[in-house]
Amino acid sequence: MTQSTHFPADFTWGVATSAFQIEGAWATDGKGPSIWDTFCSKPGNIKDASDGTVACDHYHRYREDVGLIASLGVDAYRFSIAWARVQPTGKGAWNEAGFAFYDRLLSELEAKNIKAHVTLYHWDLPQGLQDDGGWLNRDTAHRFADYAAEVARRFGNRVATIATHNEPWCTANLGYGNAQFAPGVANAKQAIQVSHHLLLSHGLAMSAMRAAKVSAALGIVLNQWTADPATDSQADRDMAELEYARSVQWFMDPIFKGRYPELALRAHGADAPVVHDSDMGIICQRIDFLGCNYYFRSWCSAANPPLPAPGKHGFTDMGWEIYPQGLTELLLKLNAEYDLPPIYITENGMANPDEAGAPDHARIAFVRSHLEALQSAMQAGVNVQGYFLWSLLDNFEWNSGYAKRFGIIHVDYATQQRTPKESAHWYRELITSQR
Ligand code: FCB
Repeated sequence: MTQSTHFPADFTWGVATSAFQIEGAWATDGKGPSIWDTFCSKPGNIKDASDGTVACDHYHRYREDVGLIASLGVDAYRFSIAWARVQPTGKGAWNEAGFAFYDRLLSELEAKNIKAHVTLYHWDLPQGLQDDGGWLNRDTAHRFADYAAEVARRFGNRVATIATHNEPWCTANLGYGNAQFAPGVANAKQAIQVSHHLLLSHGLAMSAMRAAKVSAALGIVLNQWTADPATDSQADRDMAELEYARSVQWFMDPIFKGRYPELALRAHGADAPVVHDSDMGIICQRIDFLGCNYYFRSWCSAANPPLPAPGKHGFTDMGWEIYPQGLTELLLKLNAEYDLPPIYITENGMANPDEAGAPDHARIAFVRSHLEALQSAMQAGVNVQGYFLWSLLDNFEWNSGYAKRFGIIHVDYATQQRTPKESAHWYRELITSQR
């Protein structure tokens, strides 16, 4: 970043994590099991055969971790609440010991003057609800609204934002479409019905939280990308258009326009979701902010085998193409298509095979280039209020286990020793220079 490229003075700088990826303490103080506990226990699901039972042991080390967050000089911390920690089976009695943990965490953040940005659902459904059919069961949406209302009632005036879901596209398509994520189902029709129930649950939760009259801004976090055709051929262009409709517009159109995108609906054919008459009215209601997670673009090639993405800027350790300008293009496209509320970039960052102590220059270059791309979008008129780097710590990267390191702070899992990487120092200096 050059000194001339200043972000607004009130821009929010943050770091992000999620509950299952860092907390551990999987059965402590009354916590119930989640679908990720179950998924990890089945051989073959997680590449390094690991699980989330200990993870970064953040449940016990949250004080040290908030100290690290403060040392970065950030304004804000995005984390998620483990539903099964505060309501062990997803219905019935609240677990006070679980709420007490988040109360302690919030107090610690308040003491350090760090704003809390909370996500209600970052993929860890209580197993008790999965046993009743999980997100395929429409009733889960109502259970989610009850949970949202309770969190809002307790914490809604202590946190800056509450997001209903993190990346419902992943919950539906990786959880139910290709079985890469919990609960490990591979059924295209079910994935589409699940996506509808997730959107419905978002709407129901928004209404429930609004009724609690909280000061927190309320919204949702979506993973988004542009879809670029590999060539100018009609087949590639059609594929890109359909991909964008099925992923980005599939979630944005119901929320902002009260309908599913026609192109995707037609493509789904008999797999199109069952939608009740009143559903779209519930889903399509004002949100106070949109969280956008950006990691890569979607590269669409109808050839067999498909043409690989060019990767002019390389690929991350996940194999994801590094494509910063996609962030500018995405934000401009969304801004043109929808009447958007303020946006937060709620996740952006890279996996890198970091050795303890080795400088992670690649991550610094990644973040810098994406911040430049973000700034281009802002200069062109997109209202972006903040940026959250994924992630504070190396953590449990879902089906990749602990093999993929996204943190700006290194974690030695044998000792739980945390060591800030070069990128952590760089991020702190960048934030200081922006003030
Ligand atoms: C996102 C997830 C987050 C993390 C990053 C790398 O899709 O929201 O939990 O795994 O990818």
